[in-house]
Amino acid sequence: MIEITINGKKISAPKGTTVLRAAESAGIQIPKLCDHKELTPYGGCRLCIVEVKGMRVPIASCTLPISEGMEIETETEALKKSRKFILSMLFSERNHFCPFCQVSGGDCELQNAAYREEMTHWPIQPGWNDFPVDTSHPYFALDNNRCILCRRCVRACAEMAGNFTLSVAERGAKSMIVADTDIPLGESTCIKCGSCVQVCPTGALIDRTSAYQSHDKNLQEIKSVCVGCSVGCSIKIMVRDNRVVRIEGDWDGSVNHGAMCEHGRYHTTNDNRVRLTTPLMKKNGKLEPVSWDEALNAVQEKMAKESVAALASTRLSAETLAAFKDLFESKLHSKLVTSIEEGVPTAAVAKFAETHEGFEGKLDALKTADTVLCIGANVNRSHMVAGFLFKRNLNAGMNLINIDPDETTLDEVARLSLKPKAGSDHSLILALQAVIAKEELERKSLNIKDADARIKKAVAETGISEADLTKAARMLAHAVSPMIVFGKGVTAQRDETLIEALYQLAVQVGAVDDERNNILSLKGESNSQSAALMGLEQPFNPNGEKVTYIAVGDDYVAKKLVEKAAKSPYLVVQASYESKLTEQADVVLPVSIWAEQEGHYINLDGRMRKAEKAINAPENVRDNLDVLTELAKRMKLTLDADWEKAIRERRSSVALN
Ligand code: FES
Repeated sequence: MIEITINGKKISAPKGTTVLRAAESAGIQIPKLCDHKELTPYGGCRLCIVEVKGMRVPIASCTLPISEGMEIETETEALKKSRKFILSMLFSERNHFCPFCQVSGGDCELQNAAYREEMTHWPIQPGWNDFPVDTSHPYFALDNNRCILCRRCVRACAEMAGNFTLSVAERGAKSMIVADTDIPLGESTCIKCGSCVQVCPTGALIDRTSAYQSHDKNLQEIKSVCVGCSVGCSIKIMVRDNRVVRIEGDWDGSVNHGAMCEHGRYHTTNDNRVRLTTPLMKKNGKLEPVSWDEALNAVQEKMAKESVAALASTRLSAETLAAFKDLFESKLHSKLVTSIEEGVPTAAVAKFAETHEGFEGKLDALKTADTVLCIGANVNRSHMVAGFLFKRNLNAGMNLINIDPDETTLDEVARLSLKPKAGSDHSLILALQAVIAKEELERKSLNIKDADARIKKAVAETGISEADLTKAARMLAHAVSPMIVFGKGVTAQRDETLIEALYQLAVQVGAVDDERNNILSLKGESNSQSAALMGLEQPFNPNGEKVTYIAVGDDYVAKKLVEKAAKSPYLVVQASYESKLTEQADVVLPVSIWAEQEGHYINLDGRMRKAEKAINAPENVRDNLDVLTELAKRMKLTLDADWEKAIRERRSSVALN
């Protein structure tokens, strides 16, 4: 620890801490604009200047590392004068007529800094250029007239999303933020994650759907978990008048550190599916609105007499999944109780975990891995925020070996892309092991005796040349910190011996040893892991069941499921939105969406977090868990499942914490 003095107060902070962060940790606020805690210090705006004893001129505190015995002043008259001058320059350079700006009135960091310095006007004649306003993007607008060129957006695009769409064009007073080669933002390589908007300190980047809806001080902020996919990003749900105004990434989130993807940030608040607001029953071939009493009684009467096949969405909470399993499997003794994902992303992994409990590691390992073998995972599409970690690390020099029969966005950035024939992954992995053994690059020997035969077989089965197999094997074996990531392309094969082969490869190259478990599957939806731990993962193959009960919640419905469900003699759908599935149902039970309910989720690397209720559901809509409990009650059954026990009945592939 290093000792410094700020404004006469003694402070200790670790080596490498900047003066600005050391001050903040001691509760001393230094004005700042270009600095952001999740971005690399830039030192552009100079608002954070401080006086350091022994230094000739004031210096930016956001880029200055502390050193032993430093004596710092942050609020001298000279500093205040300089800050006022800096702010005056900023206000004069562009159009900052605050009353017209959507962030004016407490949400603008520039305006707030001016109030802090007690500015009432700026003494410099404005002399701004007219910049075009770019409204081509579906989710946000870019107004360079409000920009202070702090480059937070440029850094967020590069450092949080690893995307490099935004940059600065022109020079001096004409400098402006542009997308790619100065093309409209809506036509650019922007991946619509919204990180740039979240870090903008002024109204230069504004969210189209929440602009002019409310100042932050009037919004209720509810910390929760995104249920968009198994990454499980920490989010802040911004609510006003029982309406989700916008979603923000939580800077304190242990998985995402503020980053979010398009789906999590924008699709959740721009869902244009038609909401179900009343129970429906098929009468004379047509769905008619009915009371909850009528709908629930009809369902319970049917289920009391007939065999039931039951499916639940893996977007539902662990509490709901446990109650679902309890009702259909334990109480009604249904033979077919599963999830909508049917174990595709988890079943083979869960089977392997029976003998290798906790064999998977943490997503964070991607941050330090120098070589990653990614197989069967279109991570930039299916788990975008995990994809950000890939892209960030790639920019820092990580080697990526991408294996997928189909084209994926990782192909463009991979050091080596292998396109094996579909279903030949096992042979390929065994060949990689064989090359590594043959070239004596093993960190742990697998005692492979048939190396040449394996390689020959793989060349024939995968269609990949021996040269490419050798290249991939060498890259992985030479890594200091290797990692293996696999997705649905692998797990959909439902073959635990393939998982075992990948695990052995990880052991062989040192990705798994006494200190690390650098192997991870991406899973699927937000609660795939909970469903797997509860055993809700068998294929949905009805075998004469007379009733099918599908608790789809606010999930999307695949065509394949609609086709399978169409064969059911009596279909009950518990859903939030109209779909092809509800159209063919005999009874539809309207239920709450993600923001209207609470419950626990386990993400892809075992973090158990609670998603909070942020708004109330429409009047005649019920909570997913309540519907199951009420149905059980009407059947004179008591649901007594304990979700925390339910997820510990099986060995987990990831350590739960
Ligand atoms: Fe330090 Fe901008 S906050 S220079």
